[in-house]
Amino acid sequence: MNPFRYKNGVLHAEEVSLESIAEEFGTPCYVYSKAALVSAFRAYSNAFSSRDHLVCYAVKANSNIAILNLFAKMGSGFDIVSLGELERVLMAGGNPSKIVFSGVGKREDEMKAALLAGIFCFNVESEAELERLNNIAKSMGEKARISFRVNPNVDAKTHPYISTGLRQNKFGIPYDDALRLYVRANAMENLKIAGIDCHIGSQLTEILPFVAALEKILLLVDEIEREGIRLSHIDVGGGLGIRYSEENPPEVSDYAQALLEKLEGRPHKLIFEPGRFLVGNAGLLLTRIEYLKHGEEKNFAIVDCAMNDLMRPALYDAYHEIVQVRQVAIEGETYEIVGPVCETGDFLGHGRNLAAKEGDLIATRSAGAYGMSMSSNYNSRPRACEILVDGSLSHVIRERETTGQLMAQEKLPGVEP
Ligand code: LLP
Repeated sequence: MNPFRYKNGVLHAEEVSLESIAEEFGTPCYVYSKAALVSAFRAYSNAFSSRDHLVCYAVKANSNIAILNLFAKMGSGFDIVSLGELERVLMAGGNPSKIVFSGVGKREDEMKAALLAGIFCFNVESEAELERLNNIAKSMGEKARISFRVNPNVDAKTHPYISTGLRQNKFGIPYDDALRLYVRANAMENLKIAGIDCHIGSQLTEILPFVAALEKILLLVDEIEREGIRLSHIDVGGGLGIRYSEENPPEVSDYAQALLEKLEGRPHKLIFEPGRFLVGNAGLLLTRIEYLKHGEEKNFAIVDCAMNDLMRPALYDAYHEIVQVRQVAIEGETYEIVGPVCETGDFLGHGRNLAAKEGDLIATRSAGAYGMSMSSNYNSRPRACEILVDGSLSHVIRERETTGQLMAQEKLPGVEP
């Protein structure tokens, strides 16, 4: 569904005009559509309704507690990678028994907190982590439920920074070590083997790599079960990619069908960890043009958001569609759309057509995933506010940060030069 549409020449989020949102809450501002979040979650979950499954939303994609709360109310589980994310999920009313804990560097305190909370499963990524978890569980008189994240050595054909399933990546245990480690874990007193896990990368726009990874995992499942070790679930990791511009990601129903075929006759519960698919196209970043600057070679539209608000273009050279909030009939000019930060990498888009003047609003689409959650305070810029639109209502789900808040943790120790 597309929750952001033009009505009377003005872009709206559901029933609310983005001009009124900018007026009321200021810019820059992240705007999310509740209907789009709900619809993406249902699409994923319904596609697998024929099987016992659990969607564990990958919190890192967008960790606002209002969004976590919405997913929790729809029965979602959560994929977390830190104590901070655990605390957010609990604060948002998430069910701890539906949490999987991923990540290569889990600290002791994080393991303890997750054990205390009673999470569903630790996705273990190394032998050293296995030993640490067993020791901690022992010291607490607990049994930790685990799966191994296995690296299937499959090329996800995505941006190298977000490709994780190749032998040279830091993620997961090597495929050829998996059987030995399962046998070892099975003999450890304070661990209980629950399943198997893999995650080959993000923004995958083809089904084939998912299927290739699953096939390799299923071969392992058979080998592990031949050793008498029962696995109750298979976690296939992150979700489908989304459309930013020209990409043509498969329909979730086709993706589901391809996986379900491979899984036929197997009793395992399925776990998914989608992030981007659930939130990416449900959000945009609303920003105002501060200046139009006509340089010697290029025109620049300097806006009031920057790489600290949306890092994806600077970090991955990622493309986001940029549109004017008010449609105009006049012909435009080509602009570099840039922020105020003192770096050439501070851009939202290159060579975009705009027929705009100073003070106009523009929207950067597909910014719901890895937008706000990757934002920073670089250049001492307070972070944007976040608005959740539900029909004709706009809810502030995060207030705009103040500069006072930015300095609140800092101290003047009174040292002299
Ligand atoms: N599970 C694990 C273990 C992950 O590492 C990730 C994403 C996911 C699930 C969710 O993947 P998704 O369904 O969103 O593709 N900042 C980058 C994306 C980094 C993805 C990191 N891991 C970006 O803006 O494109």
